[in-house]
Amino acid sequence: MSRIAYVNGQYVPHLSAAVHIEDRGYQFSDGVYEVIAIHKGKLIDMDGHMVRLSRSLSELEIAWPVGPRSLDMIIRQVIRRNRIRDGIVYMQITRGVAPRNHAFPAHHDSALVVTAKRFPPFDFDAANKGVDVITTPEIRWQRRDIKTVSLLGNCLAKEEAARAGAYEAWFVEGDGMITEGTSSNAWIITTDGQLITRNTSNSILNGITRLSILKIAKEQGVKFVERAFSLEEAKSAKEAFTSSTTSFVKPVIRIDGDPVGDGKVGPLSTKLLAYYGVHMKAQAA
Ligand code: PDD
Repeated sequence: MSRIAYVNGQYVPHLSAAVHIEDRGYQFSDGVYEVIAIHKGKLIDMDGHMVRLSRSLSELEIAWPVGPRSLDMIIRQVIRRNRIRDGIVYMQITRGVAPRNHAFPAHHDSALVVTAKRFPPFDFDAANKGVDVITTPEIRWQRRDIKTVSLLGNCLAKEEAARAGAYEAWFVEGDGMITEGTSSNAWIITTDGQLITRNTSNSILNGITRLSILKIAKEQGVKFVERAFSLEEAKSAKEAFTSSTTSFVKPVIRIDGDPVGDGKVGPLSTKLLAYYGVHMKAQAA
């Protein structure tokens, strides 16, 4: 079955889907995006993603291309037309087409692209493998709270990770503090069992998965704190993991080649992943 994409009002074959060469997303990365997980045909944490999308648009003064209700219908239509049961939907909104000029055009028609991709269903019950992360200097801009398509710093770091055979790269600021991963939020569990992830600010993207994990931790009585933590703390942590819409809770067993804790996937990461699976299944029921 060939894939279908939504591009500015039309459902078109994915292969021939295209935007204009003067789209400001293409020329200036002047746009925002969201990635939402689909499980058993249902959108996971849709409300959270829509709230974040709305905030990203408003921070950049980009108009909604269609109203939120219509966007919701388009997303569901793309999922249906691609017959996705498990996978992701990707949506991107840019400031649209305008003659190249850095300042905003006086008026703009936002451009909207929605695509969907099928993934094999994730087996939450299978033994979970841990991954390696490397660390890299934080070189990105200072509005990482906005989910913009301006991701070159993230791409450079992810490439560095790929070349090192690692799953992810975590960014480290000049003061030794970890911000987040290239496409995920960073977490550690201290030797006394406290779960730590960075507090929200302009320094990190407030992950929707991050918010769900915090909610789960609260419900399950897991001690947690939202604060910045250093690379040194991460290296002496008992457990670590990285979280995102596509990786859920991904245990980290090595940082820069050094084992985290005993170098095996730890019990709290395993438990949080299982609870996250329950959280997804509940929405797909
Ligand atoms: N990335 N931090 C960054 C820089 C991210 O790009 C992402 C998500 C996250 C986690 O956010 P969430 O839990 O809402 O997925 C944190 C998506 C998945 C991507 O770019 O593909």
